[in-house]
Amino acid sequence: MGNLISEALSMGWVAIAILAGLLVYFQVSIADPAAKKRAVFKTFIGIVATFLLFMAIANYKNNFYGENRMLPASLALITVTSFVMAMYFTNLGALLKIGGFMFFVAAFLSGYGNWLPQVEGGFPPKEEKITWDSMTPQQLADKGEEIIFGGIGKSSVQGEIGKGQCPLCHGFQKGFLSERAPNLYGLPERAEKERLADPRYSMNAPAKRDTVEKEACPGCGTGTTAQEYIAESHACPNCYVVAGFGLKGSNDRESQMPKIHKPPISLSLPELAAVDTWMYLREGKEPPSYEDMIKSYEKFIPESDRPKQQEDKPAGAASSLLADGSEPVDQIFAKGQCVSCHVIPGIPGAVGTIGPKLEEGTNAPLRLKDPGYKGTAKSTTEYIMESIVEPSAYVVKPFPDNTMPKVFGQKLSAGALKKIVDYLSQVKVGAPPPKIS
Ligand code: HEC
Ligand code: HEC
Repeated sequence: MGNLISEALSMGWVAIAILAGLLVYFQVSIADPAAKKRAVFKTFIGIVATFLLFMAIANYKNNFYGENRMLPASLALITVTSFVMAMYFTNLGALLKIGGFMFFVAAFLSGYGNWLPQVEGGFPPKEEKITWDSMTPQQLADKGEEIIFGGIGKSSVQGEIGKGQCPLCHGFQKGFLSERAPNLYGLPERAEKERLADPRYSMNAPAKRDTVEKEACPGCGTGTTAQEYIAESHACPNCYVVAGFGLKGSNDRESQMPKIHKPPISLSLPELAAVDTWMYLREGKEPPSYEDMIKSYEKFIPESDRPKQQEDKPAGAASSLLADGSEPVDQIFAKGQCVSCHVIPGIPGAVGTIGPKLEEGTNAPLRLKDPGYKGTAKSTTEYIMESIVEPSAYVVKPFPDNTMPKVFGQKLSAGALKKIVDYLSQVKVGAPPPKIS
């Protein structure tokens, strides 16, 4: 009850304050004592009526949000209000009294209704979070598409990329450009018919492999089914390198592909199963069961190496950034995969040779002086920024155009880009590399 009064006051205090003001005003402005008395009386009634009305509203509101079923009380309050108002507006008195009576009847009826036994409504069932193992193959595949491309339905759009980062290197659709890494279209069939049968794969005889890593873990063995081949490709890219796609100069003994379950990509086993399910389903092939997929990964990824499933972050806008700029610059280079294409002095693991060595403190001024330079940059920092967000503005010889991904303008935050530019502008030929920050 105390609640209702304070709520009514909080809703109606302006109206009540105005009426109270009038009360004072009439005291001083009306001279005739009889008229003054009438005016004061009417205003007082007005205050009471207004207050009751707001009480009724407050009570009614609580009925909707609260558990207490006090609708009749609201209606009764409005009844009283109507009768009080009838005293105030004497010329509308009859109408207000009739209205009041109707509210009274309504109050009586709803009170009677409330008094009858209530039907148990109960609570609606709590929405359960879908767990990985209870997903349908289609739900899993949708997750997989989200992980690879950043959203459902984005697989057919060139340049879309999710936290799995695969499209940085792989084409996925028939005919999509895929020079750096095999186009993954047709993989399930190819895995079985070509890869496992390839003598270089050395099925069941990992010791015969000539790659830098013969097995995903000691005793892991090789894949024996299409799904195991795919799992091994993700967990141990070095174990078997698709001919022609190895690290430059490694004679296909070493892969350029990162281990997908290791940082920075760190996909968990369920996420990997989702990715694979998408690859089967989108070609109309029946995927192995979720349990079999998980087993295929358990074969190649020892318990201690399995990333924990992170709290499901929405795969929407923010999380589709490769780096948000809060990371130290070496991690930004890793998350953007710059390291797999570029040598970057001072950055551990940046050993890629697909693009030029990034000594931009020295290179950028040379590029700007090149008569062939057609970009719009005027300074070293502008040139670096342009090379990252618009790689085709100037193509460094003898490297091919369209190899450096064109997604970084969207996929790196402004803060991350700034850190990269700051760092690279300080890298000079023959000078010690700048400090990582
Ligand atoms: C930095 C580049 C890069 C990224 C990122 C990358 N890959 Fe690869 N991937 C490669 C290269 C290069 C090969 C071929 C060499 C090899 O066999 O390891 C390859 C090979 C593969 C193969 C074997 C293909 C075949 O035809 O046998 C699969 C499967 C694969 N990648 C899946 C993925 C998936 C899924 C992702 C994302 C979760 C991914 N890759 C991310 C570069 C990459
Ligand atoms: C798939 C391989 C690949 C990846 C990944 C890649 N680059 Fe490149 N990058 C290249 C190639 C190839 C070139 C040279 C051709 C050109 O200019 O477009 C290049 C050129 C550049 C240049 C111009 C260098 C110069 O000396 O003029 C810069 C700067 C650069 N990349 C920065 C980056 C950064 C930063 C990242 C990560 C956010 C990155 N690249 C990721 C392949 C890559």
